[in-house]
Amino acid sequence: MGRNYALRMVAIEDFAERLSAIPAERFTRENVLAFLGQNRVEVKSLAPYLYFSKEHYTRNLIQRTPMFELIAICWESGQGSAIHNHCDQRCWMAVPYGKVQVLNFKVVGRDGATGFCELAPSTHFFIEPDSPQEVDPEEPVHQVVNSASFGSRAVTLHVYSYPYETCEVYDLKAKKVETVRLGNTTEFGVVKSAMKLEKVALE
Ligand SMILES: [Fe+2]
Repeated sequence: MGRNYALRMVAIEDFAERLSAIPAERFTRENVLAFLGQNRVEVKSLAPYLYFSKEHYTRNLIQRTPMFELIAICWESGQGSAIHNHCDQRCWMAVPYGKVQVLNFKVVGRDGATGFCELAPSTHFFIEPDSPQEVDPEEPVHQVVNSASFGSRAVTLHVYSYPYETCEVYDLKAKKVETVRLGNTTEFGVVKSAMKLEKVALE
């Protein structure tokens, strides 16, 4: 996809400060996506937030404002998310390190009373350092995977607006959906999880 804007490499502090400076009325799908395209984060500057675990991918909160949360997610090779939906929250993703695949799903049938929800696979795409993306509001059910075939750890940077504490998680085979509370592995560089973690410096 060709996009015409100047690219600069920025430290995460600078990125967070610039993102916070976007006024509410300009915090739109297009503007935030363009911002991610223009401001590529130096992975070295993410060092305070890079914790990996063999048990699960890790969520590392970098900044929270009334408008958004900025989270670095660290994926060991072969780790992936559940199939989920951020439910009316906008979500943009950049990949400072490695690459991930995003798999989208269509909702084929749903019954709110019983938790029944049937999904069918839809589009998929890759996100790499030069191709930030957003969750499609028309088809917001998705899964993020750092496939073992990519042969690398991955670090993804997520902007969620507004901040939220729950998401919907889907079981493809059982055809069920449930609301799950989200927790962060680290917040502002402080460990909040009992998982066995490895702090990793990436270049
Ligand atoms: Fe997501």
